[in-house]
Amino acid sequence: MKILIVGTGYVGTTTGLIFCEMGHQVTGLDLDENKIRSLKEGKLHFYEPGLDALLSKHVAAKHITFTRKTEKAVKENDLIFICVGTPQDADGSADLSYVKSVAESIGKYMNKYKVIVTKSTVPVGTAELVTQWVSDKQRTQIPFDVVSNPEFLREGSALQDALKPDRIVIGTTSETATIMMRDLYKDFECPIIETNPTASEMIKYAANSFLAMKISFINELARLCDKLQINVNDISKGIGLDHRIGPHFLHAGLGYGGSCFPKDVNALIKTAKENKVPLSILESVVTVNEEQPHYLIEKIKATLGDDLKNKTIAVLGLAFKANTDDTRESPSLKVIERLLQEEVQVKAHDPIVKMEESPFLQLATIEETVAGADALVIGTDWDEYKNLDWTGIKQLMKQPFIFDGRNIIDRDDTEGFGFHYLGVANY
Ligand code: UDX
Repeated sequence: MKILIVGTGYVGTTTGLIFCEMGHQVTGLDLDENKIRSLKEGKLHFYEPGLDALLSKHVAAKHITFTRKTEKAVKENDLIFICVGTPQDADGSADLSYVKSVAESIGKYMNKYKVIVTKSTVPVGTAELVTQWVSDKQRTQIPFDVVSNPEFLREGSALQDALKPDRIVIGTTSETATIMMRDLYKDFECPIIETNPTASEMIKYAANSFLAMKISFINELARLCDKLQINVNDISKGIGLDHRIGPHFLHAGLGYGGSCFPKDVNALIKTAKENKVPLSILESVVTVNEEQPHYLIEKIKATLGDDLKNKTIAVLGLAFKANTDDTRESPSLKVIERLLQEEVQVKAHDPIVKMEESPFLQLATIEETVAGADALVIGTDWDEYKNLDWTGIKQLMKQPFIFDGRNIIDRDDTEGFGFHYLGVANY
């Protein structure tokens, strides 16, 4: 099949490359000149483990090409995937302006039957809107179908998730589009759920909201565990082994961040309010999540004293989670923001993220970052922070305090080296 992918972020690029692996011819379309130039050279413009090798392979074999020419790309492809961003609007709803603009271009340039697929996370009812936007711009009436086919890729393991999905959701009322989508996904060994577009759109929001709920559940419980001196990791293990609950997304820490959970939970709450069916559980999920970085600050204050002014704190990790260079809604940055408000001297490190402008000092090595620090905060669960040279670090720091916002460090290990360790109910 000839497939057009509109939007070359991690979702679009990963999706396109997976289709190349399945033997299809793919075109990646983006209006951003720099992104297209880089991709044409076989270089990713973002960090995603394993994807660069696949990109070079398929660029070299010409299985994937990249372009900024919308008209030609729309005309030459029959299956079009919309993978553009749906950022959060000021009122919490999803901003559909990029999706609308793509739909209008498709309508304007289409020359024959097309199947238009939304992969971007879009609110319930968007497939209908896309249909309208395409129709509005058509010069002559050409048939087309719209499909909702949400992605469930995690940043940092997008490739693995795309190659081995838990399920594939196809939301359409068109028989022709269903046959085409079934054929596209015929080599995947996972259940395929065929439903209508609105249910498909809701599945994506429900999945992300449920996972966010698990995280807030364990984080709130961790606060009680802290009071009662109970190790929350044992609770996660103990309940996670119950197959009705499952072990995933029960890791307590600084709360969830990233480009999806915060915005998607808010968008679902917004949809619910508009429909006068408030989702009070999800409202609490958001509240708990917003409080979690402050919970760590309270721990720091309870240990170092209420007045943190002029203390030096080393923060390890800026990304919203390990294996990504994405800092959107990063819990670590929220902790840093609070520390800066308290007039703390913040020194930070991240193995991948290099922030262009920041109101804190970013250093190249862990040693430089911790030198002279009154405390060390773990902000991101990078593997390289799990087994540090504690003897060396202790010698460099002014005071031996560790605040592990991600529960990734062995408490006994660090205490053995004379550190005072505080995690999120990590005993
Ligand atoms: C998420 C969804 O998992 C994916 O299916 C969807 O398509 C996009 O959004 P992503 O945002 O890449 O993926 O990251 P994810 O691994 O889900 O983690 C989200 C946040 O939750 C991170 O900040 C992570 O550190 C945090 N998290 C995750 C926890 O705090 N505890 C956990 O147990 C799991």
